[in-house]
Amino acid sequence: MTKPHLTLRTGIYDAIAPDKFRGRLVGKVAIVTGSSRGIGREVALALAKSGASVVITGRSEEELNATVSTIADEIAVSHGSNKVLGVAGDVCSEHDTDALLEKTVSALGSIDILVCNAGINTFMPFHMTESNEWWRQMEVNVKGPTELVRKVLPSMKTRNTGTIMFMSSRAAAADLPWASAYSCAKTAITRFAGVLQKELDILQAFDHDRNGISVFSLHPGEVKTRLHETAFPEKTKREAPYVVEHMDKMARSRPDFMAETPAWTCVYLATGHGQALEGRLVDCTRDIEEAKALVLSSPQPMITNACG
Ligand SMILES: NC(=O)c1ccc[n+]([C@@H]2O[C@H](COP(=O)([O-])OP(=O)(O)OC[C@H]3O[C@@H](n4cnc5c(N)ncnc54)[C@H](OP(=O)(O)O)[C@@H]3O)[C@@H](O)[C@H]2O)c1
Repeated sequence: MTKPHLTLRTGIYDAIAPDKFRGRLVGKVAIVTGSSRGIGREVALALAKSGASVVITGRSEEELNATVSTIADEIAVSHGSNKVLGVAGDVCSEHDTDALLEKTVSALGSIDILVCNAGINTFMPFHMTESNEWWRQMEVNVKGPTELVRKVLPSMKTRNTGTIMFMSSRAAAADLPWASAYSCAKTAITRFAGVLQKELDILQAFDHDRNGISVFSLHPGEVKTRLHETAFPEKTKREAPYVVEHMDKMARSRPDFMAETPAWTCVYLATGHGQALEGRLVDCTRDIEEAKALVLSSPQPMITNACG
């Protein structure tokens, strides 16, 4: 089967142009995990610019506070009535996620949008990777988000409304060497998104006309963030320099993608434009309107839009 051609997108384009979404999320409450820096920070900023109240999370309080302050300034400049709240914590800690939800609901109200973005990666051959390190990646990238959804879902189900997005990766759709734990984790969370959507489509229809909860996973594109530094530990540099060379070569063959692309794709999906892509892996590096048209014309492939 030939691969469908979808236009490559590396930055903002018409479908996700910020002006279209001004005020569209007023009254909505969003949690973005791992939003103290990187892609999550841009997602939180885009949601806030669209009118949502946003909760910023991460373990480092210093980065967290800096991002909260930037977003508060942004809201003030645009005279928005929405709010920003910072809650430090580890997505793998039951205590911290309980506190995150309690503080969010008491300060802002019920959660409408959950972006499970916090993630880690280590490039290292499997045979060199300690068991604890391998499973830590599974915990942060899979257990953290699924357990958070377990806590957020009951309220969304009762209200029959909500958008849940998982920051997955191209690694969910490719055999990426030196990243066995990361690839397994991103594959798992992508499949979880699809299964959860199917379950909600069936269950919510019993009590409501139709399911009002949307679930997506996303490949954000290769965006230059701190992850690209922390993914190469000293042990890899010292004992497996070929890994660094290989990944450098791969990186040189790809364009750089801007964090705004996944950020405004999240806004696009949270404002109800992504119905045709529910349950699927949305590749932010490809034109989303073309991906929707492809899915509607041929609803067969489940993990879409193919991570070209
Ligand atoms: N950048 C890319 O090219 C790329 C490509 C594909 C997929 N992704 C995915 O995109 C997501 C964001 O990545 P990024 O590139 O923006 O990474 P990043 O710059 O390293 O940011 C990661 C964020 O997650 C937080 N975090 C990490 N571990 C955490 C934990 N245990 N508990 C709570 N927060 C935690 C970090 O804050 P603290 O460290 O302070 O906790 C930070 O806010 C990840 O899921 C990643 O797998 C990225």
